[in-house]
Amino acid sequence: MDGMVTAGGVPELDFDPFSRGFLEDPFPDHARLRDAGPVAWLRQYGVYAVGRHAEARAVLQDWEAFSSAAGVGLADFRREKPWRLASLVLETDPPMHGRSRRVLSRVLSAGVVNALRTRFQRDADEMVVALLARGTFDAVPDLAEAYPLRVFPDAVGMPRENRRYLLPYGNMVFNSFGPRNALFEDAVLDAARVLEWVQAQSQRENLTATGFGAEIHAAADAGELTHEEAPMVVRSLLTAGVDTTVSGLGAALFCLATHPEQFQALRADPTLARAAFEEAVRFETPVQTFFRTTTRPVELGGTTLDEERKVLVFMGAANRDPRRWKRPDDYDIRRPTAGHVGWGVGIHACVGMLLARLEGECVLTALAQRVGSIELAGEPVRRCNNIRRGLASLPLRLTPRAG
Ligand code: HEM
Repeated sequence: MDGMVTAGGVPELDFDPFSRGFLEDPFPDHARLRDAGPVAWLRQYGVYAVGRHAEARAVLQDWEAFSSAAGVGLADFRREKPWRLASLVLETDPPMHGRSRRVLSRVLSAGVVNALRTRFQRDADEMVVALLARGTFDAVPDLAEAYPLRVFPDAVGMPRENRRYLLPYGNMVFNSFGPRNALFEDAVLDAARVLEWVQAQSQRENLTATGFGAEIHAAADAGELTHEEAPMVVRSLLTAGVDTTVSGLGAALFCLATHPEQFQALRADPTLARAAFEEAVRFETPVQTFFRTTTRPVELGGTTLDEERKVLVFMGAANRDPRRWKRPDDYDIRRPTAGHVGWGVGIHACVGMLLARLEGECVLTALAQRVGSIELAGEPVRRCNNIRRGLASLPLRLTPRAG
């Protein structure tokens, strides 16, 4: 029952952020969470919850008090064994985090990502031309999935076969950050086989001689990582690099199809493509939540949190917090989006965001330059995942741009 408080004076809430009902439409409970206070207690899971923008940023920025090393899911690695080997990037604190992060930051630097622009734009243009010829199609498999599956594994240096496995793999890992509910159990049914496949893809001999994967292995030659760690760091890219971007692209396409005036603004000025993608990341927040674990009693928003407790940070709620955003529920490609937490913030902020932004920008530029109108050709269908917000299906109709 809402209205009760813990012994520490934290308001208690009873919604389940991993139930299908919540995942279909999280917005009413996001508002309850934000309005309850800077910190709340989710009775069902015995965890703290943070939904306001200021406190979400504060938690994500303080890795010493809010650790990632006990896992960024509900499971507490200090008490239970992780279901897969813990990530050497996402699920670590300094100093280990700094070692793997330094390598990834270099491998995915602005210079490296910019050098991919011509190829990524050409691939986006080709895809949009082909989809325009079809007119009506399902934008999830045919664009939001097809595009990252074409450009990303090439950039990593993966073989062509079975790239589609990256999608169920990503779905599995993101579901596994939640509780052991039906979404989790269904996602890990095939885990042994998929984990073995991903492990094999991450080995040096299965990667091309150039690409992100090869560069991570070269960092082990240079002594920045051990040779055992290198495939684990490659694995982080394969885990985090595809279905996040699929959700981001799906979100942008959904937003533009349902806000025709915003698409017309983009058509009028295609240089807004990057901003339109960024606003979709704020608006839909593909990675909705992540946990941290308190390492000591810590003050947050005037309340003291107990040590050794899980804290669920609702990036999706923070990105629509009216305390921070004007008209938070409007998709507006001209709004200043700086400060949104859709990529996280602090030492764990998304290390692949420049690459994801490039993908988003290329696809939206191709649409802005070639397409006259985008409309829904059927009901969008949500793909429920414990952590990631995205669509399973988005039927769209495109008309070509006149002239
Ligand atoms: C729209 C697409 C994407 C979204 C919304 C997204 C979101 C996020 C978020 C919220 C975090 C922070 C995790 C935390 O604080 O615990 C993160 C971390 C991370 N992301 Fe992304 N991501 C996207 C695309 C990518 C891509 C394309 C790559 C790889 C090329 C990538 C690789 C990573 C890695 C390795 C981390 C862990 C960083 C660390 O712990 O230091 N992501 N991402």
